[in-house]
Amino acid sequence: MREFNEFSITDAVIDRMKEATNPRVRQVSEALVRHLHDFIREIEPTEDEWQWGIDFLTKTGQICDDVRQEYILLSDTLGVSMLVDAINNRVTQGETQSTVIGPFYVKNPQEFPNGANIAGKMLGTPLYVQGRVLSADGTPLANALVDIWHSDEAGFYDVQQMQELGGFAGRGRLRTDAEGRFSCWTVEPIEYSIPHDGPVGQMLIEQKRHPWRPAHVHFMVHAEGHRRLATHVFVRGNKYLDSDAVFGVKDSLIAEFPKHPAGKAPDCSMRSEPYATLEFDFRLAKL
Ligand SMILES: [Fe+2]
Repeated sequence: MREFNEFSITDAVIDRMKEATNPRVRQVSEALVRHLHDFIREIEPTEDEWQWGIDFLTKTGQICDDVRQEYILLSDTLGVSMLVDAINNRVTQGETQSTVIGPFYVKNPQEFPNGANIAGKMLGTPLYVQGRVLSADGTPLANALVDIWHSDEAGFYDVQQMQELGGFAGRGRLRTDAEGRFSCWTVEPIEYSIPHDGPVGQMLIEQKRHPWRPAHVHFMVHAEGHRRLATHVFVRGNKYLDSDAVFGVKDSLIAEFPKHPAGKAPDCSMRSEPYATLEFDFRLAKL
């Protein structure tokens, strides 16, 4: 058969792929065609609308470079990133919930001793972070790696202002002690907007949505014999917790960041200015 109508064309395209030897290629290709054709049949685009869609995807690609990844933003804002995260990190042992890694992670960050200040030249209210890394059954995990990164008091990450900061800041790696403990000083993060001067920002405007993410600190935890955990800890009370632009919030990941006057801090250091604290334990799933 070589003539197809608006319904028979779907099976014809899928049939054309039947020689694919890689079963995953075949499965993904078939599902893509099936869902894409159903989508087109549902919305019945005009030819101008089809061209608009092509232009949108073209602009989304053209704005991408080494530091700007508009397709990840598109995936994030359509909830696809969190859906992939949910499928790949199902909680089975009572472990800490995961959330998106986001675009600002840097592999192998500088390692600091526990208690060190990782803020560098980043500005903000001092924040003392401490916690433990545990196996899902509660066993403390020594020698686990805890990567931390977050925004400054203006909502920017170090990688967005490397020249001004003279290098990485508000970012580091800690190693847990024999009791699974880690700690550091840094600065408090604040809410920030995802980059919204491109096609995804335009999409958010048309959908009457804002580009803001609630204040959070990112963590990525590695421990031998355990599944890697990539997550955030969100600041309780932040006004964007119920409308995170990338749908990353989970109730179990919201924590208090209590404020304290100047004076003796939990690590027994004397602070000359007010500061905040965060205490959070991470439980990892056994492999
Ligand atoms: Fe973030």
